[in-house]
Amino acid sequence: MAAKWTPDGWRTKKLRQVPNYPDAAALAAVEGKLKGFPPLVFAGEARALKRALAGVAEGKAFLLQGGDCAESFAEFSANNIRDWFKVILQMTVVLMYAAGLPVVKVGRVAGQFAKPRSADTETQNGVTLAAYRGDIINGIDFTPEARQADPQRMLQSYSQSAATLNLLRAFAHGGYADLHRVHGWTLGFVERSPAAERFRELADRIAEALTFMEACGLTAEDTPQIREAVFYTSHEALLLPYEQALTRVDSTTGDWYDCSAHMIWVGDRTRDPDGAHVDFARGVKNPVGLKCGPTLDGDDLVRLIDILNPDDEPGRLTLIARMGADKVEAKLPALVRRVKREGRKVVWSCDPMHGNTIKSSTGYKTRPFDRILDEVRGFMAVHRAEGTYAGGVHFEMTGQNVTECIGGAEAISETALADRYHTHCDPRLNASQALELAFLIAEELKAGRGEEGNQRIVAAF
Ligand code: PEP
Ligand code: CO
Repeated sequence: MAAKWTPDGWRTKKLRQVPNYPDAAALAAVEGKLKGFPPLVFAGEARALKRALAGVAEGKAFLLQGGDCAESFAEFSANNIRDWFKVILQMTVVLMYAAGLPVVKVGRVAGQFAKPRSADTETQNGVTLAAYRGDIINGIDFTPEARQADPQRMLQSYSQSAATLNLLRAFAHGGYADLHRVHGWTLGFVERSPAAERFRELADRIAEALTFMEACGLTAEDTPQIREAVFYTSHEALLLPYEQALTRVDSTTGDWYDCSAHMIWVGDRTRDPDGAHVDFARGVKNPVGLKCGPTLDGDDLVRLIDILNPDDEPGRLTLIARMGADKVEAKLPALVRRVKREGRKVVWSCDPMHGNTIKSSTGYKTRPFDRILDEVRGFMAVHRAEGTYAGGVHFEMTGQNVTECIGGAEAISETALADRYHTHCDPRLNASQALELAFLIAEELKAGRGEEGNQRIVAAF
């Protein structure tokens, strides 16, 4: 029997990746304030996402999760949020059309601020300071003041998350995501890329289908699936004082929910079954993700599944494999087989970003587009071979015209990385690369599903 859970139980466990706040009273004051603030999401919405993910676990839907590696205070603007949302909508219709299935859209957004780091410190020109851990913890500038953990940053992160979520809800429900606007989702700087050309063809077909459906009497006015998008938020539940402060009892069910996002996940560095992060995640009823890196073995995975999803509830647990293109086919099959043998209901998703980070010859942290694609292909091949369902993908991407990942149709070179390298943490796919990747994954999905199913696309949106 697991010990009774409380929202602060993690405080007695081994805590990794959370800084020491020098001023305990200031930290406690911020936690107290956050506890009094309204929740960012409601329990009923988290339950709706769990039902949608249960559909993914059963092979009846596909999960698209994506967004910034780290949201930042500096990049916070309506245009950035809008452009990112456009790319997500584009990727959604591309995948939906190919899979002939509903796509469950989950952003790494409106709360994705805290970053686990491989080293606690960073040294530049002989000076050593604390590592940058995301804007919710400290600042990116290489000065002792900026690198000091400051609890006030949690308040700013909360406000930014609330405003981001507010705008996204407006976009999703206020007409922006109406399928009739599909042609308008392509960003200006992407327009001349081959992926944009393919997208125009797809948008034409969708427009034709909509006209046909209108002739049948199905219009945007009376069919919310046509005029609105259902959209959810997620982030890594790393900074536990913040997560605990936003954890509330749902008055309908009496259960605890982390109301900072619809879905939270546990990172690859903090997935210790006896550690603080796993303890926190086990007690909240939100859908939970678990990053599965190459060092995770089958016994530990089953133990983690027992802790995080003891009732084997479908949609509760998403296993996000992030092995690396060179390891996915060696490491993933044993885990997939084991979960299948144990008969556990999980969503299997592929994060092809975090196992494929390299240092470019020009000194930038980057990810080769081809390796990202190779990992997705490897992931799908493993599931085909094991007879299991490759349920989703998890990306770091932006709607901005950045140069952070090398390759893609525009062939971003190692020297071009310097042009527009803006990320606060890991390199992201830019809008054009993200769309291109969606098409390449769509081809894999199509190959996997045969010809039937296209007609479900519009109704499934
Ligand atoms: C992340 O998703 O930003 C991350 C740090 O991933 P991982 O825990 O898989 O390294
Ligand atoms: Co990252």
